[in-house]
Amino acid sequence: MKFNLNMFLTTSSIFCFSRSMAFQSFTSSNAAAFARRTVASTSSSLSRGCHRLYASKATSFDDGEGPFYITTPIYYVNDKPHIGHAYTSVACDVLARFMRLSGRDVMFLSGTDEHGQKVEASAQKLGIPTQDFVDGVSVNFRDLLELMNVSNDQFIRTTDSDHKAAVQHMWDKLIEKGAIYLGAYEGWYSVRDECYYNESELVDGKAPTGAEVEWVTKEPSYFFKLSEYEDKLLQFYEENPEFIAPQSRRNEVLAFVKGGLRDLSVSRTSFKWGVPVPGDDDHVMYVWIDALANYISALGYPDDEAGSKFEKFWPASVHIVGKDILRFHAVYWPAFLMAADLPLPKRLFAHGWWTKEGEKISKSLGNVIDPVDLVEKYGVDQTRFFLMSEVTFGSDGDFSDEKLIQKVNTNLANELGNLCQRTLSMVFKNCGKTVPAEIGEYAEEDKALLKKAKDLKEEASEHIANQRINKYAESCISLVWEANKYIDEMAPWALKKTDPERMATVLYVILETLRHISIVYQPLIPSSANAILDQLTVPESERTFAHLESSPIKFGSPISKPQGVFPRIEMEVPQIA
Ligand code: MSP
Repeated sequence: MKFNLNMFLTTSSIFCFSRSMAFQSFTSSNAAAFARRTVASTSSSLSRGCHRLYASKATSFDDGEGPFYITTPIYYVNDKPHIGHAYTSVACDVLARFMRLSGRDVMFLSGTDEHGQKVEASAQKLGIPTQDFVDGVSVNFRDLLELMNVSNDQFIRTTDSDHKAAVQHMWDKLIEKGAIYLGAYEGWYSVRDECYYNESELVDGKAPTGAEVEWVTKEPSYFFKLSEYEDKLLQFYEENPEFIAPQSRRNEVLAFVKGGLRDLSVSRTSFKWGVPVPGDDDHVMYVWIDALANYISALGYPDDEAGSKFEKFWPASVHIVGKDILRFHAVYWPAFLMAADLPLPKRLFAHGWWTKEGEKISKSLGNVIDPVDLVEKYGVDQTRFFLMSEVTFGSDGDFSDEKLIQKVNTNLANELGNLCQRTLSMVFKNCGKTVPAEIGEYAEEDKALLKKAKDLKEEASEHIANQRINKYAESCISLVWEANKYIDEMAPWALKKTDPERMATVLYVILETLRHISIVYQPLIPSSANAILDQLTVPESERTFAHLESSPIKFGSPISKPQGVFPRIEMEVPQIA
């Protein structure tokens, strides 16, 4: 039996679709029922029956429905952006885009951390006013986000006057609560890490990170009563076992807190480039109090009136940080918030570090990876794809150009690119330059592939809800494999003469599968996924997750001559002299 949906698939609205109706695998009588339903209930279903279409996967730390607030760390402006900055930013971008496509109200924040001794010293070295210096470097980070196609909603700078006022407000609140007192500091300090270390933490006279430390002789300092938060923090971790991820990092934090917390020096008198301590001009705030507060100052804190951004988005859904700065986020930040009577973020995820061909990346080794170079050589989506899919999110990864080329050529050019190209070319040549206008009934193999396509979003959502970004990429990659297997087995090219209707059905099944893959792939490779969707004739207004079930590709839509989306990257062969 043949059917043609064009007669009733004329609206681009999102409609409620029952499970049994998915993928057009229905008979003419339920097709007619579908037509009636779309006419009758398009808009009303949006707000009632289809509620779950507008959600992501719920977890113990996120309801999967409400506003979603995600943050990158704010980046130090003492140097130009490198692969680490691109990595954290793209990871957040994937999660933010995925949540937007799930229909959630997303706030995605990034920015720059502009105070501190290091920054002051860098500006002095160049002989320029510190503010001019930070203005210049901050722009590089903004540009990097744009270059990497990162969709942050806001970019905060800690030199913004609103931010400074918010931090000072928080400071006053901590004073009012008796959480800060004036004392004197003496001890080890690492300018590079902007961190104080105990004698016992030093390894061969250096910070555990390998950074140089200097002995700071007694100077007056304000202290935060961190020692009072040991039990409260341990209780909080216990009651919220998924607050810190991955689990191995959680264990490290627990061990650190159980080892005992000392009060934290939170002001300095030895340099000036910082937020002044209210009522004591000799002191500027310790950079981490200033920096961490960006997550709330960006929301307009202390304005917490009903309807304010702060009221809507705080507490954050997830802070994504590198493993090196987990302690600040998992110990200091919650303690500051507890002291200020503010709710704690719901989740912290610490990702690993990139090395280059087995070596730590550092300026002195001259092996810094510039994301701008990567994008120029390989493309934005290719770089994003490699960074997100090559290693388990949370573990360390090793970068090499060969690995990037290999991965991109295999998964994008050969597997996804070829699937698109050969399918669209066959459709273009053999179906009158349109999506097949008519197809036959689905065979078991068709239904099996369409079912897998339909399941993709659920599987991806589960991974994304738990920040398993590489797993989400793997789910997309696997479906591409399945589709390639299907096309090879169904061999539509051989059906052209013998059974054109079957050929049309097979091609349509692949087009639909590609639509699912591309919609779900958008957060990771936004431009390429959208270029495929353009070629599949999917209207721009029908590319959210709600459209996966509601808006199959329209039969008979005219298609243009297919264009390759992923050029193969040619490996440079070293010249032999
Ligand atoms: N300014 C602080 C964060 C304050 S957040 C309230 C900071 N800035 S940073 O510019 O040094 O680092 C920003 C991020 O880059 C961190 O999450 C860090 O882990 C990450 N990376 C720096 N080098 C990296 C790699 N080699 N690999 C992956 N990420 C790394 O810390």
